[in-house]
Amino acid sequence: MKPTIGFIGLGLMGKPMAHNVLRAGYRLIVWNRTPSRADDLVRAGALRAASPQETAAQSDLLVTVVSDPPALEQVLWGPSGAMNGLRAGSVLIDSSTVSPELAQRVAQACLTRGVDFLDAPVTGGTWGAAKGELVFMVGGPPETLDRARGLLETMGQKIFLLGPHGAGQTVKLGMNLLLALEVDAFAEALALVTAAGVEAERLVEVMQSSMGRAPLLDVKAPLMLKGEFPASFPLRLMHKDLRLALDLAREHGVELPAGQAAYATYSKVKDSASDDPDYSAVLRFWKMKHD
Ligand SMILES: NC(=O)c1ccc[n+]([C@@H]2O[C@H](COP(=O)([O-])OP(=O)(O)OC[C@H]3O[C@@H](n4cnc5c(N)ncnc54)[C@H](OP(=O)(O)O)[C@@H]3O)[C@@H](O)[C@H]2O)c1
Repeated sequence: MKPTIGFIGLGLMGKPMAHNVLRAGYRLIVWNRTPSRADDLVRAGALRAASPQETAAQSDLLVTVVSDPPALEQVLWGPSGAMNGLRAGSVLIDSSTVSPELAQRVAQACLTRGVDFLDAPVTGGTWGAAKGELVFMVGGPPETLDRARGLLETMGQKIFLLGPHGAGQTVKLGMNLLLALEVDAFAEALALVTAAGVEAERLVEVMQSSMGRAPLLDVKAPLMLKGEFPASFPLRLMHKDLRLALDLAREHGVELPAGQAAYATYSKVKDSASDDPDYSAVLRFWKMKHD
């Protein structure tokens, strides 16, 4: 018989994730702070609980997907919180994005109750949640993941076990740092190009044919992980181009704070280089832990 699943947090991500669990034939108990957000799940066959505690008490596996650390603390330890309801032998899976420190604290609290825990934040966006194609970044013991895998596979396509509790959140934060900087960089490039009188669409067209080959992952990342920077596009030339972009921005009265920060980083690496490395040598600015 399939285990009973509890679901707390039915926002943009949680609701489609919960629908997929229901579609996979599990008995599903749901709770959301704003009760109306659970209505369509209840119409589709889910049971509504009166509190996080009641949800947890009826669950073999409980999933939480709430906004941020205070929200997770609230649903776990607030009035009628889930932690008081969790049964020994059950599994708590937190798919919110929170700090690794909070994930470790939740793991500790679960341990004292005989509950297994995974931090399992996700990437893939609302469309990935709707299609059941999320990627889970998991921290915790492999045996706990074995117990949760069937459930996670109803919501996601790929599951990475990344280390002990907190490791899932650590990688998630790295992923979102990347995403935030990438989108910010794109926004700055759009601001620069349009201020200089070229349509935004022209930049996107050129990006599509030049960046569609994922140069970071396919070409740069393998060498960067080895600490090798054979010049393909020399850092001194990227440094020059950043300078030119910042000059153009100044001419047009556009601020490029991320570009300025990148220029400062590239400058430091260039000034301290005794060789003529690729621009991926910007990694030398940071001491990677395994160096
Ligand atoms: N959206 C994305 O594309 C995406 C992608 C990957 C990961 N994530 C992460 O997934 C998590 C959920 O994101 P989302 O997009 O689903 O956010 P959302 O639509 O804003 O939903 C947030 C959920 O948290 C609940 N909540 C917030 N504060 C609460 C509190 N104090 N007590 C109880 N419940 C509370 C909300 O309840 P109410 O309905 O009552 O407001 C809602 O169910 C976040 O940690 C986010 O960073 C999001």
